[in-house]
Amino acid sequence: MNLIFLGPPGAGKGTQAKRIVEKYKIPQISTGDMFREAVAKGTELGKRAKEYMDRGELVPDEVVIGIVKERISQKDCERGFILDGFPRTIRQAEALDDMLEEMGRKIDAVLNLVVPEEEIIKRIVYRRVCKSCGAVYNLIYSPPKVDGTCDKCGGELYQRDDDKEETVRERMRVYREQTEPLIEYYSKKGIVFNIDGKKDIEEVWKEIEKVLERIRS
Ligand code: AP5
Ligand code: MG
Ligand code: ZN
Repeated sequence: MNLIFLGPPGAGKGTQAKRIVEKYKIPQISTGDMFREAVAKGTELGKRAKEYMDRGELVPDEVVIGIVKERISQKDCERGFILDGFPRTIRQAEALDDMLEEMGRKIDAVLNLVVPEEEIIKRIVYRRVCKSCGAVYNLIYSPPKVDGTCDKCGGELYQRDDDKEETVRERMRVYREQTEPLIEYYSKKGIVFNIDGKKDIEEVWKEIEKVLERIRS
């Protein structure tokens, strides 16, 4: 199963992708997570990406396309993958089509998480992420059992540098301008499934499971 998660910042792409990884045993490819790892390691890629991320802008297409191409050709992607946060521009989507065609593969479904803007700010400003395992929490909707500590691994929770309200508004602007047109791009291919992302995490997951069972059979 080759899947794409679309949706604005804070829609729940990462949260739901982790559930797909667990149930269907295919890897999550989150370009945002890959950049944050590179930033943490202090690599050249990380230094370059951080400048854009901190402003809420997109990292240049050539950079992102290169790292995704390398990632999806790895062995663990042979049975499928979930792209989370890629593609984000028409150019990235076209590059993805080219890569997949070369590999003799295609996207089976685009899961589009629909969430209203006022809800998004709340979700992102209260988000906390585990430094060690990447688990995602929300101080209001899904708080950890112990303040500041990951339930799953005991790791330390932190707030992303780009999760300040001002940066979130810029990320949403960029989403509307550059990423939203992808809904039409994939609708023309007839593979978009709109998911009501406003419901709680469990209900959203049930809707996604239904779609995935349908496309698998
Ligand atoms: P990226 O890391 O991809 O961020 P994003 O797209 O803005 O999405 P988020 O990770 O913020 O949200 P999410 O949908 O994963 O939500 P989550 O599950 O965490 O990108 C960051 C930056 O990297 C970009 O700005 C750009 O600079 C760069 N970049 C990355 N990819 C790129 C690309 N392809 N091209 C160019 N640049 C790129 O959930 C959010 C919160 O809500 C959490 O607290 C969670 O607990 C809570 N929550 C989740 N679901 C629910 C629910 N149903 N109800 C209540 N709360 C919920
Ligand atoms: Mg995410
Ligand atoms: Zn953890």
